[in-house]
Amino acid sequence: MNEMIQIAPSILSADFANLASQIHLVETGGAQLLHLDVMDGHFVPNITFGPPVVASIRKVTKLPLDVHLMIDDPDRYINDFVKAGANWISVHAEACVHLDRTLNEIKQRGLGAGVVLNPTTSLTVLEDVLGLIDFVLIMSVNPGFGAQHFIPYSFEKIQNLRKIIDQKGLSVKIEVDGGINLDNVCELVRKGAQILVSGSAIFGSKNPAEKVKAMIKRATECHEI
Ligand code: DX5
Ligand code: ZN
Repeated sequence: MNEMIQIAPSILSADFANLASQIHLVETGGAQLLHLDVMDGHFVPNITFGPPVVASIRKVTKLPLDVHLMIDDPDRYINDFVKAGANWISVHAEACVHLDRTLNEIKQRGLGAGVVLNPTTSLTVLEDVLGLIDFVLIMSVNPGFGAQHFIPYSFEKIQNLRKIIDQKGLSVKIEVDGGINLDNVCELVRKGAQILVSGSAIFGSKNPAEKVKAMIKRATECHEI
């Protein structure tokens, strides 16, 4: 595997009063997509933002918008997020009673479709839909908050998913979200992750642009070892 690892800054830990300038900082650092965490206070015990904020962000960046829906009943809102300018939408397997229908809905709108798994949700739920989707988002923390610790058993899960995808000859990407920083980037890349979401490590640092740059550099170096 010789492709670039993508860093997806999560704006959850950004300064929301200065979102445009915060986004421009990570663009300068070389971020390839922007991760937007949508929370409803039901599926997860926190509330963030909805389609209007996504639409405003759409106006200030050309980066693809990777919308992570941590909401119950995501089907009801797919259309709103499409109209707001999302490029990728991921839904939690745990929140979708009719997962196939929801994913088809996203695909039919021409967006990238992803399935998110909570830390304790087994990879087996992906068995039937893997051929349908563009990416899997593995949660390496319990969703709801930024700045939590990476759950170590996620490494094995990523490695197992890598094997399954390769065995099936699919090009489904593996994205990982939660507790990612310079210290675990290498191990994640070695296990087979291709897109790394990072919030607090980037926006909590003094220089978000440099942090993104450093993460890309680290990911590239461990790729070469
Ligand atoms: C957690 C969110 C993450 C979060 C990651 O529910 O899905 O995207 O922002 O933040 P860090 O990198 O601080 O763990
Ligand atoms: Zn997320």
